[in-house]
Amino acid sequence: MITSSQENQEDIVLDNTLRPQRFEEYVGQEKVKKNLRIFIEAAKKRGDVIEHVLLYGPAGLGKTTLANIIAKETGVNIRVTSGPAIERVGDLGSILTNLQDGDILFIDEIHRLNKIVEEVLYPAMEDYKLDVIIGKGPSARTLQLDLPKFTLIGATTRLGALSNPLRNRFGAIHRLEFYTEDEMEKIIGRSGKILEIEMDEEGCKEIARCSRQTPRVANRILKRVRDYTQVHGNGKIDRAVAREALEMLDVDHFGLEPTDRNILETIIQKFKGGPVGIQTIAAATSEEIETIEDVYEPYLIQLGFLARTPRGRVVTENGYKHLGHDFPMEKQKSLV
Ligand SMILES: Nc1ncnc2c1ncn2[C@@H]1O[C@H](COP(=O)(O)OP(=O)(O)OP(=O)(O)O)[C@@H](O)[C@H]1O
Ligand SMILES: [Mg+2]
Repeated sequence: MITSSQENQEDIVLDNTLRPQRFEEYVGQEKVKKNLRIFIEAAKKRGDVIEHVLLYGPAGLGKTTLANIIAKETGVNIRVTSGPAIERVGDLGSILTNLQDGDILFIDEIHRLNKIVEEVLYPAMEDYKLDVIIGKGPSARTLQLDLPKFTLIGATTRLGALSNPLRNRFGAIHRLEFYTEDEMEKIIGRSGKILEIEMDEEGCKEIARCSRQTPRVANRILKRVRDYTQVHGNGKIDRAVAREALEMLDVDHFGLEPTDRNILETIIQKFKGGPVGIQTIAAATSEEIETIEDVYEPYLIQLGFLARTPRGRVVTENGYKHLGHDFPMEKQKSLV
């Protein structure tokens, strides 16, 4: 899906060309940047490593990018891995023992670390110690190894899926927000320059409006619109050709794609607009629960088309309107 904020193979190449390297190039997230800058400065002054940082927020908003920037700005090496990639305690052990003093270890999707590995991480984060068990059975003994002083940067789309003990071991927790339209225009403008794409202001605005307030989606759409323009236009992106390309990609004025609309439509048609549980929505739309929660739902909530309630998801009045439905009378009353 063009607007899916999840990473795919094509993105990895695109990401490497477009990924900002320094805070100055990193658009938006001003509060997070400001805090991190102070955090880094203070650690440098103390001559110490920076404390462990947890970054969370919907996919494609720039967590991996930010982790890399922190490493660059601090002037240290970064070792990148992910929760699912660290299958056994031994995997984590070899990563940790190979770090150098001051290095950053970046664990993406840290909520997917398995429990046993996670428990080994606690003393490593707290005291830079690694407990290793040598031998088997009755003769087994534990040996404690000193680790280099490192900084862990964890990234997750789901803060709620993190255990408390893990969360509590981070010195700073930052939430990344969806980007404003202005910020999206800046990001698209910057990417356009790097990729040497000809584009006028209105064309840029049109792409910005339809990019789910998410840089990864914006970069991907920009590339597709460029391709479309080279075939169907004169090579320069303006509003009209951008709109045509987006239409062909089935992306509407709010950046919604068929799956978003299907989710809303299903809740309206089959469940009277909700509240309905996420499992039920997943079954009725044949989407994975995780995909709905990580990719579609955050933006639908951000737009105010969908709301989470203790009893399940509900489509809001704006959601009904966007799909061209009247908001049922009885629902209007129940809100008063
Ligand atoms: N603040 C920003 N300014 C400019 N470009 C950005 C910014 N944030 C992200 N990008 C662009 O978006 C792409 C995706 O960002 P990134 O890979 O950091 O997202 P992520 O939050 O790690 O996503 P995921 O949760 O899927 O891992 C980057 O390659 C970069 O080009
Ligand atoms: Mg990432």
